[in-house]
Amino acid sequence: MKNAKYVVFDGMDGSGKGTQIELLKKKFSDVVFTYEPGGTPFADEIRKIVRDNPLAGKSTPLNNFLLFWAAREELLHNLIVPSLQSGKHVFSDRGDSSTFAYQIYGEQNSELMSPFFEMRKLVFEKVGRQSPHLYIVFDLPAEVAHARVMAAGGSKRNHFDTRKLDYYERVRAGFRNFAAHVDTVVFMDAEKTPEEIHEIVLRALAMRNILAT
Ligand code: TYD
Repeated sequence: MKNAKYVVFDGMDGSGKGTQIELLKKKFSDVVFTYEPGGTPFADEIRKIVRDNPLAGKSTPLNNFLLFWAAREELLHNLIVPSLQSGKHVFSDRGDSSTFAYQIYGEQNSELMSPFFEMRKLVFEKVGRQSPHLYIVFDLPAEVAHARVMAAGGSKRNHFDTRKLDYYERVRAGFRNFAAHVDTVVFMDAEKTPEEIHEIVLRALAMRNILAT
């Protein structure tokens, strides 16, 4: 794979993740940028179901969990792995760390914990898709993230954004717990200014020989 790396950028809604990804896009034109759920035509169809269709909220936790994994398998097969094989780094806005933090912790489905690791084993080991080389998680107090999302208001909101503060607290704990299980996770202090965080992200990537600054 010519040392091409797959990096996931993750964090709570309101963590400033999107701003950081935009800064990286301006700087690195050779990197393939993508996102979850979605990123291919078929995965974007799944995105419409899980993210935008209120019926998803009425389905079972297991179904939603499987739909996020279905979108991921599609994205890995059709975009991430081929891009890595052609020698390009892939930077993804969210990854399986979100499924862990949101579906298991945020939505309090502890029964999905062992299926989560079974899915990782299936997708990343048995099927052999590349797992993320690095997860960069933008971390900040739940109150700050929640207040940012509430202040953004209006058109930026979807049905995920009406969540209460305790949900954010659980998601934050979920990311921390994910890092207790997966050893390629680094946290960024997302309360710093966007410029400061950008510099720290660049250093983290350079340190791992992912990008030269
Ligand atoms: P999106 O509009 O892409 O927002 P963001 O900029 O916050 O990524 O919405 C994605 C939503 O989907 C977000 O609230 C997190 C959620 N999500 C999960 O619940 N599980 C997952 O596995 C993924 C990838 C995302």
